[in-house]
This record gives sequence, C-alpha cells and structure tokens, in this order.
Amino acid sequence: MKCIRVNASRQYNVEIQHGALAIAGEETLKATHAIGKALIVSDENVFPLYGETVAESLRATGYGVHTFVFKGGEDTKSIKTYEAIIAALSENRFTRSDVLVALGGGIVGDVGGFAAATYQRGIKLVQLPTTLLADVDSSVGGKTAVNLPTGKNQLGCFYQPSLVLCDTDALSTLPEAEYKNGCGEIIKYAVLAGGELFSMIENADIRTQYADVIARCVTIKRDIVGEDEFDTGRRRLLNLGHTFGHAIEKCSGYSIPHGAAVGIGLAMMCRAAHKRGYCASDVPEKAEKLLAKYGMSDAADFTAQELYDAALSDKKIAGGSVSLVIPEKIGCCHVLTVSCGDMPGWLKDGGAR
Ligand SMILES: NC(=O)c1ccc[n+]([C@@H]2O[C@H](COP(=O)([O-])OP(=O)(O)OC[C@H]3O[C@@H](n4cnc5c(N)ncnc54)[C@H](O)[C@@H]3O)[C@@H](O)[C@H]2O)c1
Repeated sequence: MKCIRVNASRQYNVEIQHGALAIAGEETLKATHAIGKALIVSDENVFPLYGETVAESLRATGYGVHTFVFKGGEDTKSIKTYEAIIAALSENRFTRSDVLVALGGGIVGDVGGFAAATYQRGIKLVQLPTTLLADVDSSVGGKTAVNLPTGKNQLGCFYQPSLVLCDTDALSTLPEAEYKNGCGEIIKYAVLAGGELFSMIENADIRTQYADVIARCVTIKRDIVGEDEFDTGRRRLLNLGHTFGHAIEKCSGYSIPHGAAVGIGLAMMCRAAHKRGYCASDVPEKAEKLLAKYGMSDAADFTAQELYDAALSDKKIAGGSVSLVIPEKIGCCHVLTVSCGDMPGWLKDGGAR
C-alpha cells in the first residue's frame, strides 16, 4: 500500500492499493476511531459495481450501513441531490459520530462531501474515489461543492475527509472517456510540476503505472494544499487550465467533461502564454504532444466571446479581474492577475475563434 499523509486543518491518509474497497470498513474504523452508522453515497453506475463490496466490509467491521444512490452526472451535482442526502442522514438519525462514505467519482465526492461538511455542522467523511480524476484530484484537498444554475461549484466549502482510499482495481471498469478525463488532470500536474511525473507519463502509459502516478499527483497536491488549504495563494496553481476549462465545459452544456475541458484549457493557456512572451514554444508543443498521446483534444470550437461570457460566472473572477495560471516552462508556473476585459484577447491567443 502507498500512503500519503495530508497535513491540513485535519490530518489524514490517502491510501492507494489494489483491492482497497474490500478493506474499506477496517480502514474507516482506523481513520475515524468510531463505530456507528455509515451512509454510502454513490451513483447508479458505481454502486452496482462496488457498493456491496464496500457495504459488506463496513458491516463486517460493525457499521450499520445505509445507502443513498443517485443518478449521477454534472446536472445531479445539485442542491436537489444535496437536500436528498441530508434527508437520508436526518431520517436515519445520523449524528456527528457517524460517517458518510462517498463511493464514486468527483460528482459523488463533491456533493457527498458538501453534505458531510454541513449536516450537523460536519460529520465524518471518507472518500472512496473510483475514477482516475477523483483519485488524483477531487478526493484530496477538501473542496466540496454543488453547482448552481449560474455556474459550477458555486455553493460549497472546504472540508477535509478523515480518509481517502484509492482502489486501483476499480479503474478496470472505467469507460475510456473517463480514463481520458483523469489524464487531463494528470497532464495538468505534469506541466505544473515537470520532473519525474512528466517523464513517467511521457515514456509509459498512465494505465500501466496507476499507483505510482496517483501517488505522485496526490503528493504534488498535498504539498500545495498543506501550504494554502483555503485557496488564497499557492493553491491557485492547481487551477492551471481551469479558468478556460470551466468556460469550455459550460459552453458545451457539459457535454465536454471536466478533465477533457481542463486538457483543452491547458493547451489554450500554453499557446496564449507563448504568444504573449511568457514561455518558449516548447511549452505548448510538449503539452499538445502529451494530450495527443492520450487521445485528447487541444482545442474547442467556441468563440472568444462565448467563452468569455461563460467564464464570467467563474468563482476565480473577482472584482473585475481574473487569476490566470501561466506556464513559464514545464515544471514552473505562476499566477497572473489580469483585468476581465483582457480575457477575450487571451482566449483568442489560445486559439479561440
Ligand atoms: N473537489 C475538487 O477538488 C475537484 C477537483 C477536480 C474536479 N472536481 C469535480 O469532479 C467532477 C468530475 O468528476 P469525475 O470526472 O470523476 O466524474 P463523475 O463523478 O461523473 O464520474 C464519471 C463517470 O464515471 C462513472 N464511474 C465512476 N467510477 C467508475 C468505475 N470505477 N467504473 C465504471 N464507471 C465509473 C460515473 O458513474 C460517471 O458516469 C466535476 O464536477 C468537477 O468539478 C472536483
């Protein structure tokens, strides 16, 4: 088992191991030091695959198991789903010594995490990520949220889990598109941190080295979150590709999923940064090459105005300015604050129509 210790407002382990879901009960007990009720929150794809394994392990450890299974998809990362989870907790008389177990991808983790964070001012939370994207990114670091009609993640809070348990075996059932989605975030980490991660995924397929790649990404995120848990400074670096990426997601009506949009946003940012003299041409070239290696797109057919309008609802746009993460070279990025009015120019330089 690989184990990465996160030091934030709560300290916890991210454990990476094949077959980990079958020991979810005992690992939950070790991390929370409490036996009580457990609500497994999951979606309709994941629960039939892994729900019983997790439920059985929790039961065998002594937990009283309840389940909440919802449809899944970005439009269900909503207040409606959140309210229904809260109702399940409340109707089953959960208290702060009980635990919510989020079994699934980033959607389940974000909405389940927000419910755990707010029900009775916070009950214990265990993240069992089952997508590559959730393994390397969304399950770690404590960002929880639901979407509002005005934009993604508009209602949420920071709430660290007690444990993140990544079962690499669960990735065997992941659809190809979701694999690519995870690759988008991993390529973001590789451009951000460079070094060993970049060469690992450049020289061999991510699929052949899941545990090592996940551990490396989580370590990068852990180090940044440890310094800036509440996203007021260095953590903004993790938004590389995201300002444009969120706009792409929104413009596509969420038909381009998060990780794929981040990949496109990353390529656009690298091209714009090069055009504006912040980096040499090897940066967009290397990013585009890596995206191509994983069969990912580096462009989307939207106008700069369409993307700008969508970007205006992004949380990262405050007081007429926007923070962009600019690559200087592979492994070195910085945050640049530009006025909102400059955004269409950046988007055009990135390749928007
Ligand atoms: N909290 C954070 O820090 C953070 C970071 C990045 C992304 N996010 C959020 O994460 C969300 C995207 O997460 P995602 O990409 O994991 O999407 P997702 O949760 O929708 O999962 C993708 C699809 O794969 C299915 N699935 C999940 N695991 C599976 C498995 N093992 N086998 C077969 N099918 C499986 C799901 O049912 C779903 O249909 C977005 O809402 C994004 O905003 C949050």
